[in-house]
Amino acid sequence: MTKIVEVLPDLEALIDRALAIVLDKLNAAVTERGIGTIALAGGSTPKPLYEKLAAQSLPWDKIHVFWGDERYVPADHPDSNQRMARLAWLDRVEIPASNVHPMATNEADPAIAAQTHAAELQAFFQVKATEFPAFDVILLGIGDDAHTASLFPHTDALRVDDRLVTVGSKDGQPRITFTVPLINHAQTVIFMVAGASKQSALAQIFAPVADDMTYPSRLIAPQGDLWWLLDQSAGQNFKNE
Ligand code: 6PG
Repeated sequence: MTKIVEVLPDLEALIDRALAIVLDKLNAAVTERGIGTIALAGGSTPKPLYEKLAAQSLPWDKIHVFWGDERYVPADHPDSNQRMARLAWLDRVEIPASNVHPMATNEADPAIAAQTHAAELQAFFQVKATEFPAFDVILLGIGDDAHTASLFPHTDALRVDDRLVTVGSKDGQPRITFTVPLINHAQTVIFMVAGASKQSALAQIFAPVADDMTYPSRLIAPQGDLWWLLDQSAGQNFKNE
């Protein structure tokens, strides 16, 4: 794993940097393999990135878009990560519907939805049940509590190491999330972190010693590149590495 920490002057500069890395990785993947795969983060930070991606002329017919986690709400719910990315980006580019792979949230049991999505990933990447596919890019954010995706502190999801997708829980509300090993098999993971409220979580994530179950983002150590893109507000105690 190669870890790169960059502190950018503001959110716009952070988004522009993330855009440059995403474009580089996806174009390289398409050039090398004829296909590029990306899993999206939810929340608010990545929305301007998705809006900028809508203005790019990528080979959309060769790009496949997934989500790293999803709130367990209907696809048209205001809290839906799928809805946010479609409105900001995917509905505004000529990407085939079959290239967009949302996590279904219409099963009565979220565990069934997690299993279904894992099976879809295995079929798409043509991996065996015991293998973890390698996404070209996985985008992540962190919460003020140092969660990432829907891997929340002291939840069972943090310990799932034999599946691609599992059920997370925030304040008793179910979510569907990539597991730690699936994220850690990615070629490139990009954390986008903005705002002073993230300073405390970052200090614990980067501390030499801290409890991984309390600060789940510490568990993310991909086989490829790990980018930490921080705006000045979040990363004022950091220097560019
Ligand atoms: C989600 C995200 C979540 C998010 C962090 C940061 O579904 O909410 O996947 O992990 O990345 O909570 O959210 P902000 O970018 O809004 O601070």
